[in-house]
Amino acid sequence: MTLTVLFCVDPLHPRRVDPHFSREAAAVRDHYGEIGLIDHDELRNGDADAAVRDVPRDLGATWYRGWMLTGAEYAAMAAALKRRGTVLLTHPDDYRRAHELPGWHDTFAGLTPSSVWRALSPGGDPGDLAELVRPLRGGPGIVKDYVKSRKHEWDEACYVPDVHDLARLRAVVTKMIALQDEYLAGGVVVREYERLDSGGEARVWWVDGEPALVGPHPDTPEVEPEPDLSGVAPAVRALGCRFITTDLARREDGVWRVVEVGDGQVSDLPATVDPMDLYAHLPVPD
Ligand SMILES: Nc1ncnc2c1ncn2[C@@H]1O[C@H](COP(=O)(O)OP(=O)(O)O)[C@@H](O)[C@H]1O
Ligand SMILES: [Mg+2]
Repeated sequence: MTLTVLFCVDPLHPRRVDPHFSREAAAVRDHYGEIGLIDHDELRNGDADAAVRDVPRDLGATWYRGWMLTGAEYAAMAAALKRRGTVLLTHPDDYRRAHELPGWHDTFAGLTPSSVWRALSPGGDPGDLAELVRPLRGGPGIVKDYVKSRKHEWDEACYVPDVHDLARLRAVVTKMIALQDEYLAGGVVVREYERLDSGGEARVWWVDGEPALVGPHPDTPEVEPEPDLSGVAPAVRALGCRFITTDLARREDGVWRVVEVGDGQVSDLPATVDPMDLYAHLPVPD
């Protein structure tokens, strides 16, 4: 069977792949794979049937590669595709488990900074933060939602000098919630801060529990880190998702730490990486 990948459509040219993914789509086509188009705007609007309207019927088993989706949007896309005879190779439960921190955190315990979280709707009140952060050791922390941080607004909406300074914590959490606005994913996360060296992160792409590609993180596309994967591999296998990424950074003491886990279908691939170095590893359904 052929490798089949569903890419997000270009909102301006409804027959084309979104320019952000066109390099990857070309690689799939060059290697005799098939592609289909997904309308990400329609998924966001809540119309999954419209979003998959241009996917050929009975495509069989496919991967998605595109912009991030909420767990609910991904599940709606999977259901709409199924009605057209197409099955996503990543099940919606697996997507959510890799995509949202509460899904993977405990499996990566000891490999990733300790974290606490609380479910919250966009614009909601985070409630009693003293109780939330009680399990964390004192000292600096990082605030984010279940998927993304406001790392570009570091001092106001991401970093707290001491998680047990509740006034400051509340200010940073409130700012993060305000800035995420309607895109707040899942709820609030507070993590213990660890001193990472400035060498840049490695993004490791895992397929069926094996490291398929070790490359740079998109924020530092020029670095070529060589992380030690021996501690991480068992956790990746335990999570049990077929296609995920782990972003690894070296702590100042030299230990490689998992900064975050993501679903491989929605993790960004830096332009410095040849897409075939990844796609050649994606299993073709049998
Ligand atoms: N617990 C932590 N300790 C130290 N630095 C962190 C921690 N969590 C995040 N960071 C830093 O903040 C950046 C953004 O955090 P990350 O969890 O990757 O969020 P995003 O999804 O927005 O990329 C990371 O690349 C890392 O440099
Ligand atoms: Mg990150």
